[in-house]
Amino acid sequence: MRYTDVRGRSDERNYDSAHLSVTMASVGTEETIVTGDVGTIVGGHLEYYTAHGLAPVAYRTDDLRAHLERRDSLYRSLGLPPAAFKGVRVLEVAPGTGQNSLYVAHCRPASLDLVEPNPAGLSAIAAAYDAFLLPHTIPAVHAVRLEEFAPKSTFDIVLCENWLGGLPREMMLIKKLTSLVAPGGVLVLTVVPLSGFFANVMRKLLAHRILPPDLDFEAQTELLVQAFAPHLATLADMTRSHRDWVHDCLLNPHYLNVALPLEAVLGAVGGELEALATLPRFGSEWRWFKAMTGARRSFNEGLGAAYRRNIHNFVDYRHVWPERATDANAELDRAFHAIHAAALAWQTAWRNGDRAAIASRTGEIGGHLEEIAAHLAALDGRLGTAVTELIDVWTAPSVTVPMIRKMDHFGALFGRETVYLSMTRPLGL
Ligand SMILES: C[S@@+](CC[C@H](N)C(=O)[O-])C[C@H]1O[C@@H](n2cnc3c(N)ncnc32)[C@H](O)[C@@H]1O
Repeated sequence: MRYTDVRGRSDERNYDSAHLSVTMASVGTEETIVTGDVGTIVGGHLEYYTAHGLAPVAYRTDDLRAHLERRDSLYRSLGLPPAAFKGVRVLEVAPGTGQNSLYVAHCRPASLDLVEPNPAGLSAIAAAYDAFLLPHTIPAVHAVRLEEFAPKSTFDIVLCENWLGGLPREMMLIKKLTSLVAPGGVLVLTVVPLSGFFANVMRKLLAHRILPPDLDFEAQTELLVQAFAPHLATLADMTRSHRDWVHDCLLNPHYLNVALPLEAVLGAVGGELEALATLPRFGSEWRWFKAMTGARRSFNEGLGAAYRRNIHNFVDYRHVWPERATDANAELDRAFHAIHAAALAWQTAWRNGDRAAIASRTGEIGGHLEEIAAHLAALDGRLGTAVTELIDVWTAPSVTVPMIRKMDHFGALFGRETVYLSMTRPLGL
């Protein structure tokens, strides 16, 4: 087929299969849904993925039934059983390899639109559907960025996972996704609480510290896979390769920007959408439905309050502690926000090769780690031990691969970094 990219360049590419239709949005000729300067967005994941020819989100599908069950478990937890997808209009933005969309396609929606601009992702999508033998709705694949996607109608279900973070330009895109949800429809997004992000923020910085200058991309990949393999080996249910994880998290220059607290999403959607469910599920609802009218519906406020009582429960995916007072958790949350901000500043200093700034930011991060260690030790001694081990490595004059591999306590600490959130647009009765 003829493929034309959003800048008007065209060439022959092998994106289509016998089953897929790949279409291009025509820039500026369709109805504009979001106003603002989103059309000039550059950088982010996309620039990095395309520069290296990556789509580092390939999931294990050798056991297809298990893959589909995982997706079913996710969606039912978000209030979306198979019947919710059947016969309706579904949009998935940034589907990556498209493997996750197979489940939705199998639920037989009336239509399934996929918006994915990454050439490596588009090839993977074509391959995934070529190999998918179960009955399914054939998707329409739009090889454009969300910024240029200009559909003529809204959708009953809009899905977008593991892409947007909290940068102002990305908030604009969350607003755009919101505008694409029909009355009575659902938007599914992922949020990244700073407390859940903490362990991988530190892994990202440690990765910089062990990489010798001037290694090529492949050698960097191999070294980081070797260093972090013992950490990743503790994740029994991981469905991505270590190599993809290293590409997507440690080598991705945009990775620290994926932080996206719940309050940012609720702020971006304003009152337009109402929280439906999350996974992990930290909210509960004990009110009588007859009291839930008008301003008293307050689903977003209720979820926000439950989130604040559970900030500590995103730190370590292996444990759940009783809810805590909002004040105590606000202090903890501030500490995680502070170390994230310092990590961004450290990364900038590192990229600029500014030795003085690196030294001062390294010390600053050490201070934040001490504070976090004290908070977490009071919560659970095992967490305190893990962060103390991290401090020992972080404050060493130089960090080596064997040091990372030997982190027996911190190594197994991964946060609940990805929190799925479903929200509905009220019917406007
Ligand atoms: C981390 S991957 C997540 C992929 C998939 N949702 C998943 O969870 O496996 C981020 C995805 O966002 C896509 N992406 C990046 N910039 C985009 C844009 N401006 N519009 C649409 N998709 C974009 C990338 O190409 C990539 O497929």
